[in-house]
Amino acid sequence: MIDYSIFRTRRERFLSQLGDVAAIIPAASLVTHHADVEHSFRQDSDFWYLTGFDEPDAVALFLPYRPIGEQFVLFVNPKESQLEVWHGSRWGKEGAVEVFGADIAHSVEDFPRRIGEYLNGSDSIVFRIGKHPKVESIVLKAWAEQLDLSARKGSAPNALIAPCPFLHQLRLRKEPYEIERMRIAARISAEAHELARKKTCPGMNERQVQALIEQYFLEQGARGPAYGSIVAGGDNGCVLHYTANNAVLNDGDLLLIDAGCSLEDYYNADITRTFPVNGSFTSEQRALYEIVFSAQQAAIRAVSPGQNAEFIHQAAVRVLVEGLVDLGLLVGDIDEIIEQGNYCHLYMHRTGHWLGLDVHDVGAYRLGEYPVKLEPGMVLTVEPGLYISDRLPVPEGQPSIDECWKGIGIRIEDDVLVTLDGNEVLTTEAKSAPGEID
Ligand code: GLY
Ligand code: MN
Ligand code: MN
Repeated sequence: MIDYSIFRTRRERFLSQLGDVAAIIPAASLVTHHADVEHSFRQDSDFWYLTGFDEPDAVALFLPYRPIGEQFVLFVNPKESQLEVWHGSRWGKEGAVEVFGADIAHSVEDFPRRIGEYLNGSDSIVFRIGKHPKVESIVLKAWAEQLDLSARKGSAPNALIAPCPFLHQLRLRKEPYEIERMRIAARISAEAHELARKKTCPGMNERQVQALIEQYFLEQGARGPAYGSIVAGGDNGCVLHYTANNAVLNDGDLLLIDAGCSLEDYYNADITRTFPVNGSFTSEQRALYEIVFSAQQAAIRAVSPGQNAEFIHQAAVRVLVEGLVDLGLLVGDIDEIIEQGNYCHLYMHRTGHWLGLDVHDVGAYRLGEYPVKLEPGMVLTVEPGLYISDRLPVPEGQPSIDECWKGIGIRIEDDVLVTLDGNEVLTTEAKSAPGEID
């Protein structure tokens, strides 16, 4: 059961930050899958964060310069039995007011006609261009009309402002309620990884393991996978966004699984585990796994208030490069290899990202010259890896890769909450220490 009072509190904070600015936040629309079939609906996260309203095509207005009782306006699909019999019931205008706390609700068909009147009195307009083409053309037309009239009326909104500074800084710092939800997403996802590791054996298809994981998500009440699950045996693990998930798992290979669930209210987990399909590492696999594990431990230790994403990345990179030099997969001075990026054919991605309502959640990593400092309540992933294949050229001066290493792809990814005095890993229930998984 979703607690709708949290949305009211968020709206109050958002409205108080807007000043005399109108904010227009559109819902998502349905996306065509093929022919006249649509993908499952996925609400826009900004819209969800402020409304908790889970229908397509709606638009929310936040109007702090209007009197109390007229500041939160929702445009929604009207009730229409001929459509509801096909697509399910709608809350309609009455539900928008009674259940979702709108001060005023209209049919979304009236949005083009009414938006101009609601913008009267606003200094500027918070609206994200480039993401909602239908709503955008209506907003720009209404704004242009106001500019045309401004000489006689004496005012018009001056500028369009992206919602990021207002809204995404709020979303980046998770409320206690959100942290509780993310703990649940993390627990379900970690349990699914444990189940998958215990049931995996040589000869299975990647898709069978995907089915085990996603079945567990659904059985536990999650909405489903938060993103396309990656179930990648052997060399497929070196393809960062592998989602074909249709190869046989070979005795002697590793299996890399990157999967997390999304809850009913869209909070996500994002976990990667890598383990031997037959339960025992080869010596090459173990050597590389231990390096990635140590790199992840170092990176997690770096997560604490005042630190930043770059510091965490560098903590992981240093341990990876030192380990690769020890194994002879890289040669030269550690600092020089790092400075020149001469390890990027083996580790080519960043070490993490914000996590929340979006898997790659909103929030800046840098503000101008300065890295954003971690604060208690932020949640991020820590996900170093090594991918040994010949897909990328070996940088000049570095050794060619011996066949015995090729086809080993390893990533270990956990979800980490920044706390007052350090961090808490939310996903520890999925085992990852070398001795625990083989
Ligand atoms: N699962 C996507 C990522 O790890 O960023
Ligand atoms: Mn991730
Ligand atoms: Mn992931």
